[in-house]
Amino acid sequence: MLPTVSTLLLVVVAGVQRAASISLNTSDDVSIRQAAATAAKGMLSYYTNTGGSVGGQLGLLNSPYYWWESGAMWGAMLDYWKYTGDTTYQNETLTAITAQLGPANDFILQDQIFDTGNDDQAFWGVTAMTAAEYGFPDPPAPLPTWAQVASNVFNGLASRWNTTYCEGGLLWQIYASNVNGQNYKNSISNGGLFQLGARLARYTGNTTYSEWAEKAWDWTAAVGLIDPASYAVYDGTDSSQNCTSVDHDQWSYNVGMFIYGAATMYNISGTAAAPSASVATWQTRLEGLVNGTSVFVSPFSNATNVMFEVACEKEGTCNTDQFSFKGFLARWLSQSSVFAPQISDTIAPWLQTSAQAAAQSCTGLGNSSCGTKWWVEGFDGVTGAGQQMSALEVIDSLLVGSGDVPLKGGAAPSSSSSSSSVDTSTLVTWTTVVPTSSSSAGVSTTAVTPGTTSSTSTANASVMGGLASAIASMASQGNS
Ligand SMILES: *[C@@H]1O[C@H](CO)[C@@H](O)[C@H](O)[C@H]1NC(C)=O
Ligand SMILES: *[C@@H]1O[C@H](CO)[C@@H](O)[C@H](O)[C@H]1NC(C)=O
Ligand SMILES: *[C@@H]1O[C@H](CO)[C@@H](O)[C@H](O)[C@H]1NC(C)=O
Ligand SMILES: *[C@@H]1O[C@H](CO)[C@@H](O)[C@H](O)[C@H]1NC(C)=O
Ligand SMILES: *[C@@H]1O[C@H](CO)[C@@H](O)[C@H](O)[C@H]1NC(C)=O
Ligand SMILES: *[C@@H]1O[C@H](CO)[C@@H](O)[C@H](O)[C@H]1NC(C)=O
Ligand SMILES: *[C@@H]1O[C@H](CO)[C@@H](O)[C@H](O)[C@H]1NC(C)=O
Ligand SMILES: *[C@@H]1O[C@H](CO)[C@@H](O)[C@H](O)[C@H]1NC(C)=O
Ligand SMILES: *[C@@H]1O[C@H](CO)[C@@H](O)[C@H](O)[C@H]1NC(C)=O
Ligand SMILES: *[C@@H]1O[C@H](CO)[C@@H](O)[C@H](O)[C@H]1NC(C)=O
Repeated sequence: MLPTVSTLLLVVVAGVQRAASISLNTSDDVSIRQAAATAAKGMLSYYTNTGGSVGGQLGLLNSPYYWWESGAMWGAMLDYWKYTGDTTYQNETLTAITAQLGPANDFILQDQIFDTGNDDQAFWGVTAMTAAEYGFPDPPAPLPTWAQVASNVFNGLASRWNTTYCEGGLLWQIYASNVNGQNYKNSISNGGLFQLGARLARYTGNTTYSEWAEKAWDWTAAVGLIDPASYAVYDGTDSSQNCTSVDHDQWSYNVGMFIYGAATMYNISGTAAAPSASVATWQTRLEGLVNGTSVFVSPFSNATNVMFEVACEKEGTCNTDQFSFKGFLARWLSQSSVFAPQISDTIAPWLQTSAQAAAQSCTGLGNSSCGTKWWVEGFDGVTGAGQQMSALEVIDSLLVGSGDVPLKGGAAPSSSSSSSSVDTSTLVTWTTVVPTSSSSAGVSTTAVTPGTTSSTSTANASVMGGLASAIASMASQGNS
């Protein structure tokens, strides 16, 4: 057998026919889209507040899911919309994100203060940025565009840059009422500022954002949250000790957040959006971070290239948040390959094997619910919205092709242009918009419909390019 074919992959392929699992042929785009549709449907089965009120529960998962994870979930639905071309959930996604905008259109809501740290707001901001880059329908007038919303979030984060200790950095928390995290400067908050800055710089061409991205990176590296040798991204550091002590836990979403920001910076270095940034420097940083990601793959010799959450998954101690993390790593790895095609050969085996392994875990509860551990055979009995999100994102990642270049727009204004509340009765009209650069195969959650296959329905390396072609070539080797 070829070395890229893991034992687990063989188990998985043999098990494709098992009842109620998500069947996935990674060399067939139609199969990938259908697997994604099943995972998405399962994820949204946890979302029941469709009749909630604007600024209230509309757009939110219920307990035990914290507010941030809903923002992350709608980001996953944007990825689903973009990469599968399925518009089934477009209205619902638009309504949900818009409902949480808040009075200043920056996702700050009084009734979510207890759940709103810098990282939480950043996750919703990243979702708004994604909507702008995908050409997702904007909120109805007079609400601002998604790019303006992302810029509002960025400005909020940047305004809280705190030099009292540690010579800078964002604290985890925003509000003093959140006692937990008042002295913690963490990677996901600073990484959120970093990634949003890089993406806004690219989108708007405004160098203020890329300068902030450089500043956020420099600070995070200087306090030791990015390891200078291994490029491991550690979780956070104690500002009451002037950031001299570091929590060395590694979580996959931390490195994922920095990877996509670094890929973006690499791609815009030396252009008008980041004239003083060095391509060589960002290339090295990106490569280092991708190297550092290897701690999150291959948990056992029987599961080569399968992604896992290294700090908790083997022990079975992951919490609700952590079940979703490896999905974001998959999302940001695959999207980084659009900006930095040189990483494709490294990450394609991780994503392809992990997607296959995730799909084979989705045999739970008699309704294709996905499990947590992709490295055990079948369903491990631990499921939820986060597990669905992880499976959805890693399956979607197989569809990311070199042509999926995020859009750019004009300069976003520096503050919100409107504070109107949302009238949900107007959020119902966008039914015909299809993603700009993805073919719109009709995705069926039940069966393949002949005639609805997309133009890339079989993985064709010569038209897909980049990551998708690396995956296609692996898959064809694996099938031989
Ligand atoms: C997977 O899809 C490819 C492309 O459509 C096809 O050639 C191959 O036979 C499929 N494999 C299986 C196991 O169905
Ligand atoms: C599967 O069943 C579980 C338990 O009844 C439920 O919580 C979950 O929402 C269901 N998923 C789907 C996709 O219906
Ligand atoms: C900056 O940090 C200090 C010390 O942790 C804190 O007292 C202060 O409120 C913070 N300032 C801002 C703007 O967050
Ligand atoms: C905090 O650390 C920085 C270097 O990281 C140092 O320059 C500064 O003097 C330290 N501040 C205190 C109060 O120790
Ligand atoms: C990444 O890993 C490769 C292979 O081990 C190594 O050659 C390269 O120097 C590493 N890059 C960085 C930036 O550490
Ligand atoms: C930057 O990204 C574009 C896609 O937006 C890609 O075509 C180009 O090759 C990338 N540049 C570099 C230097 O890799
Ligand atoms: C792989 O090995 C681990 C550790 O022994 C085990 O828990 C797991 O079930 C194995 N996975 C498969 C697919 O056999
Ligand atoms: C660039 O962005 C910053 C931050 O949002 C804003 O303050 C500034 O006005 C923008 N500059 C231009 C030229 O648009
Ligand atoms: C979006 O909502 C409108 C109004 O309720 C409805 O007519 C339309 O079918 C919906 N579109 C989709 C794709 O569900
Ligand atoms: C792949 O696409 C190219 C360009 O459209 C076409 O020339 C080629 O025949 C295709 N190859 C396969 C195997 O379908």
